[in-house]
Parts: sequence; C-alpha cells; structure tokens
Amino acid sequence: MNYGLIMTEHAAGDSRVEQRRHLVTEIPGPVSRELMARRERAVARGVSTTLPVFVTDAGGGVIVDADGNSLIDFGAGIAVVSVGNAAPRVAARVAEQAARFTHTCFMVTPYEGYVEVCEELARRTPGSYEKRSALFNSGAEAVENAVKIARHATRRQAIIAFDHGYHGRTNLTMALTAKNMPYKDKFGPFAGEIYRMPMAYPLRWPGGREACRENALPMIKSLIHTQVGEDNVAAVIIEPIQGEGGFVVPPDGFLAGLAEFCREHRILFIADEIQTGFCRTGDWFACEHEGVVPDLITTAKGIAGGLPLGGVTGRAEIMDSVHAGGLGGTYGGNPVACAAALGAIETMVAEDLAGRARRIGEIMLPRLYGLAEKYPAIADVRGRGAMLAIELTKPGTLDPDPAMTAAVSRACHQAGLVTLTCGTFGNVIRFLPPLVIGEDLLDEGLSILEDAFASASGDDR
Ligand SMILES: Cc1ncc(COP(=O)(O)O)c(C=O)c1O
Repeated sequence: MNYGLIMTEHAAGDSRVEQRRHLVTEIPGPVSRELMARRERAVARGVSTTLPVFVTDAGGGVIVDADGNSLIDFGAGIAVVSVGNAAPRVAARVAEQAARFTHTCFMVTPYEGYVEVCEELARRTPGSYEKRSALFNSGAEAVENAVKIARHATRRQAIIAFDHGYHGRTNLTMALTAKNMPYKDKFGPFAGEIYRMPMAYPLRWPGGREACRENALPMIKSLIHTQVGEDNVAAVIIEPIQGEGGFVVPPDGFLAGLAEFCREHRILFIADEIQTGFCRTGDWFACEHEGVVPDLITTAKGIAGGLPLGGVTGRAEIMDSVHAGGLGGTYGGNPVACAAALGAIETMVAEDLAGRARRIGEIMLPRLYGLAEKYPAIADVRGRGAMLAIELTKPGTLDPDPAMTAAVSRACHQAGLVTLTCGTFGNVIRFLPPLVIGEDLLDEGLSILEDAFASASGDDR
C-alpha cells in the first residue's frame, strides 16, 4: 500500500544511524540472549523488559542491537525521544555542557541553562498568565511536587485522580495511579487524601459513547460533592489523554467542563502532560486541543530528548506560595539535562515537530481503521497526532483480549518493529514513534503490524 510517501528533508532528524530495518539474526539474537542471561544474574527482577534486545546505537526511527539488527522504533523509549535518539542538537549541547561542568546543584550556585528551560516552559505551555517553573529528575517527581505545591497554595488536602490514570511509581504517585498490578501490588500503605473518580472512557462507559459524553462529568461532580466536598479539594490531576491506562481520550468538552468546575470551586486543575506534552499529540501540549488552560502542568519524557528531566509549571502566585527551600533536590534541573532540553526544544521548533506529529496521525489512522475493519478484535482506534492506540477485545464484546495483544506485539518484535502495550487490562497496543521518523519507516512499520495481525489471527496459514 502506498500513501504518497514524502521523504522529509530532515528525515529522521539527520541521524547518523542508517534509517532502515535490517534483521541478521532472530530476535533476540545470540549476543542479546547472552546479555539477558548476565542481566538476570545482576539486575533485580522487578525491573522488567519489553523486548530483550540490547541496544548499541539508536537514531531517528531506528534502534540497532548488539547482534547487528536494525529495528523500527514505534515506542521512542515510551514517548521520550520525540526528537529522535541522539538527536544532533541534543547530543551537541550535551557534549558541550558536559565538557564545561556537570553539576553544581542549582540550589547552591545556579546556572543559566535552568533559567532558560523555565523560560521555555513559560513560553510553550498553555496560558498567557505569568508563570514560574521548578525542575526535577523524573515525571513522578514532578507530579509529587505539583501535589505539594497545590496543597501548600490552597491549604487543602484532597486530591482527585481518575480510574485508569498513571502518574508514577513513587509512594505518592502510586497512590494516584489506578492500576494495581504491576505498579502497586503489596507496595502499600499508600499516601492518604487521594480520591479516585470514574474516567470518561468512551468505549467502556456504561451505556456507550453518547452516555459517556452526557453523564461522565455530572457523575464526577456529584461524587466529589457527596464524597469529598469541593472545598476540601486542593487539586484535580488528569492526563488529557491517558497514557499507561490505555491512551484513553475523553469526549470533547470533558476536560474543559472539568476545568470550569475546578475554577468555580477554587480547585487547582493539574494537567499531567508527561506523556502527551512536547508536540506528541500535534500541539505543544494536549490541553491546547481543547483550549484548556491548567493552573499547573507537569512535564518530563519528551522535554529533554532522553535525559532525565521533569518540570512543574504554573501560575506565578501558586508556584510562589511555597517558602524558599520547600522545593528542590540535589540533582533537579541538572545542567546537562537542561542543555539537552534546550536542544530538544530547539529541534521541535526548527523541524516543526508538532506538524510532524499531525502528519504521522494522518498517515497512521487510515491504516489503523483499515485494520479494524478487517479484524473485529480491534474494538477501538484512538489517540491524537503521534499518540495512537488500538484496543483489542474478544470480537463483538468488551472483554479484553490481552493474549491476542501479546501475540500481535510479539510478532511485531520478531519482525523488527518495536511496539509497546498498555491499558488497565493489558489489551492496548500503543504507537509512539519518534516524531522525526521517516515516512518510509512508518509505512513499513504499519505493514509489519498488518502482517502481525494476519499471523496472530491465523490468516497466513
Ligand atoms: C502521564 C504520566 N505521568 C507520570 C509518569 C511518571 O514519569 P516517570 O516514569 O518519569 O517517573 C508517566 C510515565 O509513564 C506518565 O506517563
């Protein structure tokens, strides 16, 4: 199938890694298998592996493994290397910064890169009000700090989170995260004053999509009123499109309605844009699609092209309500990570990666809808820009089909396509290619997915 492929001028971010899939062994190959055996003797079992190939190089839309295989990347390290792996501007800025100084601790003796990243966050995040930011090392740490700030600013304690939500694996963020296995099981007790509401999940809302559009928000408002009390609530935290929970896209108007309810009751609206942010959904931030302006926004993942960095950005009066010394950490906003973020943001602007994300959606969606027509196991195709997913169920029902999901994913991996699964029921395949991926690779990856469905369904026998 040909969709009028365009080889972009900056195909795959000018990576030095050859942009083609090429398999020379089975997946995983013998060198990766040996490394895996070493890994098992040295690395804790709790740190899992999706696809056991050991990486030696990566760039643009390709990952090269220790056996010399080149795989197409539809995962971007879980929505992190949106600018491509080892993106030239990121690599150059990192090398330059690492050669000058690697750490002073911003709270001891500051440096300009941290301030520049906060200026960029103020410029790029939704809202024209005056903003402040604070930088951290990970998404979970950003979420923890957003909650600290919200509680401090409002002098209220309750936090509202949602079914299927994912906010991290630290103690407070485990409490915010919905799914028990593998994230929470036997890791309690969890932090208190967290209240979970149903999520506006169109496919799974009782009564269907229209009922979801009509009833989700009134139900949530009523539950907050009766079970928590609006003026006990410091903040509502929500992913504009849920990530780990299954790329759940709420109906149009849901986020705006929720934000309005928050405003009426002086509840802070925290948008967790850790997975959706930095051009992934075709805008700088997913909230923009609905014209929603959060009070606080958490960022990480795509912000720094692979280096660990997270941020909380928000209204100046909220952020500045916290006393000096109340926020921070030894490494938060490390100078090398800040240099990487500046290189990543520069790449997003120079290569219009929000536009690239929209284009990826335009290419992928028709193919995914075509697949759904052919395979009734695909109950839903959803997402926005370059954050897309398919949900698999037993045909004609809403019963999740994690076995088929795993079989399709495994077939993709064996053919040299890196795909990720997600979802509360483990039945969603998600697509998060680097935004610089060449359209020929995108097309080839989609063909591999189609073949994987054929083989998992027995069509190729
Ligand atoms: C929406 C969201 N919030 C928070 C996190 C946690 O980020 P990290 O893994 O960097 O701690 C993630 C990670 O997947 C995420 O998708």
